Amino acid sequence: MILKVRKYGDPILRRKADAIPAVTPEIKGLIADMIETIYDQVGIGLAAPQVGIPLRLILVDDNKGGGVRPLINPAITGRRGSVEGEEGCLSIPGIFAPVVRAEWIRVSALDGDGAPLDFEASGLLARVIQHEIDHLDGILFIDRLDKVTRDRIKRKIKKEGLPDEAPHSAFAL
Ligand code: NI
Repeated sequence: MILKVRKYGDPILRRKADAIPAVTPEIKGLIADMIETIYDQVGIGLAAPQVGIPLRLILVDDNKGGGVRPLINPAITGRRGSVEGEEGCLSIPGIFAPVVRAEWIRVSALDGDGAPLDFEASGLLARVIQHEIDHLDGILFIDRLDKVTRDRIKRKIKKEGLPDEAPHSAFAL
């Protein structure tokens, strides 16, 4: 089932999400629905709060053909370097800006079956994971921009609103 993606201004996007205590059939069903949704939206990342579920679950796609994978209760346990790159967000359609992120991260999480994962990521995958974990903490990419840029974007959204249809973009997370 394709889920409705919540847009900027929806309070659920500002809430801190709860840890998932066990990978139940309901959680597996949610993962399946989120995978359908991310393909429908042509995104490369999606966090459960973006579809109205305040749980610590994200989907990430490294855009290298490996497909979309779920990460449950993801945590960044190490980070190195910093790099700027363009980001957008399925919850803030039509807005794109360069964001500074760690270049390399170490991640612990559970996979879609509840098995523990511990891996390193760099490049686009590291960026997507950092963006999606931010969603679990109620943080949006525009919060990480300098104040002048952020205020300009907020004014633009206030004046023009957000488009109903997300622009299909490889940068939308
Ligand atoms: Ni996003």
